[in-house]
Amino acid sequence: MSTAKLNYNGKDYEFPVITGTENEAAIDFTQLRADTGAITFDPGYGNTGSCKSAITFIDGEKGILRYRGYPIEELAVSSKFSEVCFLLIYGHLPSEKELSEWRRQLTINSNIHESMINFFDHYPPTAHPMAILSAMVASLSTFYPDSDDDEQLDTNIVRILAKAKTLAAFSYKKTRGEPIIYPIASQSYAANFLFMMFGSPAEPYVVSPLLERVLNMLLILHADHEQNCSTSTVRMVGSSGANLYASISAGISGLWGPLHGGANQEVIEMLERIVSDGCNYKKYIDMAKDKNSGFRLMGFGHRVYKNFDPRATLLKNACDDVLKELGVIEPLLEIAKHIEEIALKDDFFIERKLYPNVDFYSGIIYRAIGIPTNMFTVMFAIGRMPGWIAQWKEMRAESGNRIHRPRQIYTGEAKREYVPVEKR
Ligand code: CMC
Repeated sequence: MSTAKLNYNGKDYEFPVITGTENEAAIDFTQLRADTGAITFDPGYGNTGSCKSAITFIDGEKGILRYRGYPIEELAVSSKFSEVCFLLIYGHLPSEKELSEWRRQLTINSNIHESMINFFDHYPPTAHPMAILSAMVASLSTFYPDSDDDEQLDTNIVRILAKAKTLAAFSYKKTRGEPIIYPIASQSYAANFLFMMFGSPAEPYVVSPLLERVLNMLLILHADHEQNCSTSTVRMVGSSGANLYASISAGISGLWGPLHGGANQEVIEMLERIVSDGCNYKKYIDMAKDKNSGFRLMGFGHRVYKNFDPRATLLKNACDDVLKELGVIEPLLEIAKHIEEIALKDDFFIERKLYPNVDFYSGIIYRAIGIPTNMFTVMFAIGRMPGWIAQWKEMRAESGNRIHRPRQIYTGEAKREYVPVEKR
């Protein structure tokens, strides 16, 4: 076993080195504080491995993303979202029998308790759908209680997956003041979502196979991404023993931020702002380079990918095909491509290895499908559900799993005496 040596305060210490399947190395500092009295300091956790995981592999330098060993490029074109959900959560591709039962479960659990439908009526019409989704997923725990029993956990897993799309579609219908449309048994996951979003009781809605295919791919591309902010949140909350619904509700909140899943909404809003400002690309590139402007090129950069984001590559290629097939002319696509071209030739972006990420092109496709901008991050959340569930399940199954509890370096006042208010 290889080890790493540390000399601290004149004393030598040795720590084991752990190596993953793909040879990525980590120095195991589990005993660091006990042995040396010191802790590691790594704000933003850029160098910290918080767990061992067998779910997703990313090589950020080479632009590789694999779920359970399967390359994202293959899954995105050959698989169905429901199959990928099973793969991520249970670790293997389902057999024909397993898949058919899994799909049946995902369909029969699609409806939500009728009492929950009333909840939607009490949100203001301007409510952000991410707030509604997070609250609704937490509320599911009040209808479908938690249990340590494995069979019951499997039922809860399927419930969250199946109901997430229904909650999202219902919240959209409610904000538009339109009647909700219930899911139907014969449809795939993606088709059912489109059916509930765009169907109406007055006219039967036939789901376009193209839209179904595209949405299926989008969901797969978002399905997991190892220890990002929202997934780490799910694991962190789950480590306290909080139930699956509560943990995922917290993950949804983590995803909402503009530096994470909220970036897809921000990208479209940024592109629209550039258009309304006369397409002055240079101004926005310059602003992104100026630290004092408070502006970042949304949809650019990634903590892990330092070459290209394979999801962005797939989405950029899909954009042209999807818009062409749908007959949609989208001026924002040209603007996005133009910005990418300028940024990729600019030393600021080259030196910092900033490339388009998954959020740069996904919004263009969501728009073409007809999804409103403020629902883009909800789409990301629906896609990410299986990843969050798989990571929560893996964390809970680990023997010796401890509550997540980082330490800190205190920089506040040293001990001082309390002064009564009349003497201050
Ligand atoms: N525009 C301009 N400058 C940037 C950008 C950007 N989008 N991203 C990073 N930088 C600069 C940053 O100012 C810093 O410069 P310097 O070294 O001179 O201080 C350097 O690049 C490194 O940035 P960082 O913030 O330390 O990098 P990070 O790993 O902490 O952050 C990030 C990663 C994704 C939050 C960041 O790149 C960003 O804010 N991007 C825009 C938001 C976005 O698109 N988020 C979606 C991420 S992908 C979907 C997901 O999984 O969430």
